[in-house]
Amino acid sequence: MTSLAGSSILVVGATGGLGSAIARILADEGALLTLHGRSEEKMHALAVPGTFVYSDLLDAGSGNGLVAAALDAHGRLDGVINAAGVVAFGPAADMSDESMDILFAVNALGPMRLLRAARPALLKSAAAKRDPFFLTLSGIVSESPTANMAAYSASKAALAAFGQAAGRELRRDGIRLIDARPGHTETGLATRPIAGAAPRMPAGFDPADVARRIVDAIVAGERDLPSGAFSPQHAA
Ligand SMILES: NC(=O)c1ccc[n+]([C@@H]2O[C@H](COP(=O)([O-])OP(=O)(O)OC[C@H]3O[C@@H](n4cnc5c(N)ncnc54)[C@H](OP(=O)(O)O)[C@@H]3O)[C@@H](O)[C@H]2O)c1
Repeated sequence: MTSLAGSSILVVGATGGLGSAIARILADEGALLTLHGRSEEKMHALAVPGTFVYSDLLDAGSGNGLVAAALDAHGRLDGVINAAGVVAFGPAADMSDESMDILFAVNALGPMRLLRAARPALLKSAAAKRDPFFLTLSGIVSESPTANMAAYSASKAALAAFGQAAGRELRRDGIRLIDARPGHTETGLATRPIAGAAPRMPAGFDPADVARRIVDAIVAGERDLPSGAFSPQHAA
């Protein structure tokens, strides 16, 4: 892929800190966007051009609707960015059933179901030599599971393992799976946990820098973005 101009890309979690930063760059580069969120108000405030689609990823059928929206809007699908996610803090033994269910539903099962829904359209994109991709953001915790974030780390490690294995399968089909594993990034995610409270953390990366690195990797044909791919000079 040498350019994103004219590529049909679905951004899941486009109202978030990383999703919105990625969507802005993609729009500037001429991609045709389908932007997912939960809130119309937040989506309109972004002012990023695209087709808007709303769903709660706790709904297991959500992925089918997102792919259908992208196909309705642009007639094809060349890439998917999974930038939705939730975090929780606190001792592993204190995590509630509800929080564990939400972490796994949004962070792991959502992207897994979405890949299944998107595969037929991505196969068509591969046949048309459009270099389709499916990008996940498991984050550094999938490499280095973190105390007081055990359930979050586990949900992200599940996502990373799924991506590695599915990526081997889909490589034969010409579909690129990319897992991005940046460290702490200043999106405000840590201030919106579904449980617990974040410890004090050192300053994280600038979301615009992380988004730029991710989009550059897509264009350059990279297949993996480990934590080391996000250099310290990106830290705020
Ligand atoms: N920030 C970091 O330090 C960091 C580091 C590595 C990886 N990551 C991962 O990168 C991804 C994006 O993180 P971020 O920092 O940009 O977080 P964020 O700003 O909180 O954005 C999260 C996005 O997920 C959406 N979302 C959450 N729960 C949802 C649900 N049940 N149904 C539908 N959408 C839902 C949010 O929608 P609303 O706008 O409606 O809330 C928002 O669009 C996450 O998977 C995160 O784990 C983050």
